[in-house]
Amino acid sequence: MNQDELKALVGRAALDHVVAGSIVGVGTGSTVDCFIDALAGIKSQIAGAVSSSVRSTERLQAHGIRVFEASEVESLPVYVDGADEIDPQGCMIKGGGAALTREKIVADLALRFVCIADASKRVDVLGRFPLPVEVVPMAVAQVRRRFAALGGDARVREGVVTDNGQCIVDVHGLRIAEPLAFETEVNQWPGVVTVGVFARHRASVCLLGTPEGVQTLRY
Ligand code: 5RP
Repeated sequence: MNQDELKALVGRAALDHVVAGSIVGVGTGSTVDCFIDALAGIKSQIAGAVSSSVRSTERLQAHGIRVFEASEVESLPVYVDGADEIDPQGCMIKGGGAALTREKIVADLALRFVCIADASKRVDVLGRFPLPVEVVPMAVAQVRRRFAALGGDARVREGVVTDNGQCIVDVHGLRIAEPLAFETEVNQWPGVVTVGVFARHRASVCLLGTPEGVQTLRY
């Protein structure tokens, strides 16, 4: 199976975690696109979705799935999203698609985070994938200096403006052995909108696409 087939496999597998009659939290990315396409097949069994990006909203609506605003719901039973990396505790790096802020907002509404990923995303320690951070443009130079002090090389993602009108820096060269402490620290820095470490909102379960089939990891 190639990577696209593995993404389709886990996208379909995530349907088993969707609660009938509920509103589903929906992430962003190529793996989530597969989930959205699979969700269309059971759309009569759900009330709708809360989306984490313009991209996912457009795909959901194209399938005729109702999209609710995050402010319209108090909680969601399940949030389904991909990841750029996932560690043995279910902590993740996210934001490769620049949607990390809305992803964290929707994940915060959910009782369970179901991560869908192909096996290449599994790592022992987070940081090989450059860490995305959404930053207010005025703060970029200072945020870059702060990452440099931690040994990271923060590079502005050229030509990218997020759905929230901010910019993204990708931080190379980090080794994030304590994701929760790291997320807490970077969250304090003025001008940081969202850091792409998901430790407070780590996965409850990961459906990992492997050549042998879907492996279910629980945390
Ligand atoms: C978007 C994300 C995605 O979930 C992450 O980049 C994985 O994407 P893909 O499924 O395309 O590999 O965090 O901001």
